[in-house]
Order: sequence, then C-alpha cells, then structure tokens
Amino acid sequence: MHITILSGSTRLNRQSHRVALALEKWIARQGVHTAEVLDLAEYSFPLLEEVLHRHPTPPQGLADFAERIRQSDAHIFVSPEYNGSYTAALKNAVDYLKEREFSQKVVAITSVTTGANGGIRAALAMQQLVLGIAGYPIPQMLTVGQVSQRFSEDGDLLDPLFERNMDNFVNSFLWLAEAVAEKKMALVA
Ligand SMILES: Cc1cc2nc3c(=O)[nH]c(=O)nc-3n(C[C@H](O)[C@H](O)[C@H](O)COP(=O)(O)O)c2cc1C
Repeated sequence: MHITILSGSTRLNRQSHRVALALEKWIARQGVHTAEVLDLAEYSFPLLEEVLHRHPTPPQGLADFAERIRQSDAHIFVSPEYNGSYTAALKNAVDYLKEREFSQKVVAITSVTTGANGGIRAALAMQQLVLGIAGYPIPQMLTVGQVSQRFSEDGDLLDPLFERNMDNFVNSFLWLAEAVAEKKMALVA
C-alpha cells in the first residue's frame, strides 16, 4: 500500500509537522508499505474559489496533490488544534477534491498541541470530516500533547514512553487499511 500523510499546518515555526514526519518514518521503518507527507505549507493553496474539476485555471500544484491522493490507498490527516478544531488549510485542501478521491479509503486522525491536551476537539472534528468525504475512520486517534518535547524537528521520537502510542495507532490504522485494500484486490481479481 501507499499512504499519504496530510500535514495540515502552514504556520511559520509550526510544530505539528514533526508528527507528520514521524509517522512517515514509522511506516517506512516497518518496511511493508510506503508513505509520503503531503505538506500543505509547500503547496500553499489559495482559498477555494472553485473545486478542482470545475476550475478554469486550477491553482499551482493542485492537480499534483489530487493525483497523489488518488494514487494512494489510505491516508492520515495531521493537524494542530486551532480554536477547538483543525486547520482551515486542511479543510480548504480537502474541499478542492472530489469525494471519490477519499471514499472507501481508511483515513486516520492525528491531532497536535504544544500544551498538554493533545487536541481532542480537533481530532473529533477531523473524524466528522472523514465521514463527510465518505472515508473510513478508525476509532483510534493519535492525540499528541507537548509536541516539542515528544518529537524532534526531523520527526524523531524523543519520548520513549510515547512509542506505544505510535505503535498502537499505526498498527490499528494499517490493520483496517490492509483489510480494505485486500477486499478491493479480491473484487478486481
Ligand atoms: C490560531 C491558533 C489557535 C490555537 N488554538 C488552540 C486550541 O484550541 N487548543 C490548544 O490546545 N492549543 C491551541 N493553540 C496552540 C497550538 O496547539 C500550538 O500553537 C501548536 O504549536 C500549533 O500547531 P502548529 O505549530 O503546527 O501550527 C492554538 C494556536 C494557534 C496558532
């Protein structure tokens, strides 16, 4: 399987991107699946004026973004909690695409804060978003509080006590994502 990880913060000096990088490394290290971070700060999409398939002059990078989503089997959304929800950048990027880019794909949720709470309100809001795009959410969510103490800038885990949280989350995600991928392969065989 190929997995895309949407990194939802475009803020200068952002911290949540560390977790997106960590998840990419975690999945790659297992050596079974491939993963890539789609960085919304790099794409820098303007506020939506029209969805991609109806846009006369789509923003730069949007077709590439859509194609990477389309070509992948499952996704992880990573966002900090901003005022009790996930980032506007994540919603904006997802709104550009057709529901079918995500439908029948497992989408797992990770929320991040610098404070202790880990952003459960953002995580729950993202689960609603997954339902809105007809994805398959998983019940386990990774909520990361005190992110700067837990992950380095390059996405290395600094807190060994958090290793179990990462394993539980990634393994629960891959369990369902693999089951869905197998089902799809059986249908085309
Ligand atoms: C606009 C804004 C709103 C925020 N709202 C919340 C919040 O609702 N709950 C919370 O725990 N932290 C909140 N924070 C603190 C963030 O958790 C912290 O700044 C974190 O580093 C943001 O992620 P980022 O660095 O990837 O942008 C907020 C920060 C910003 C910039």
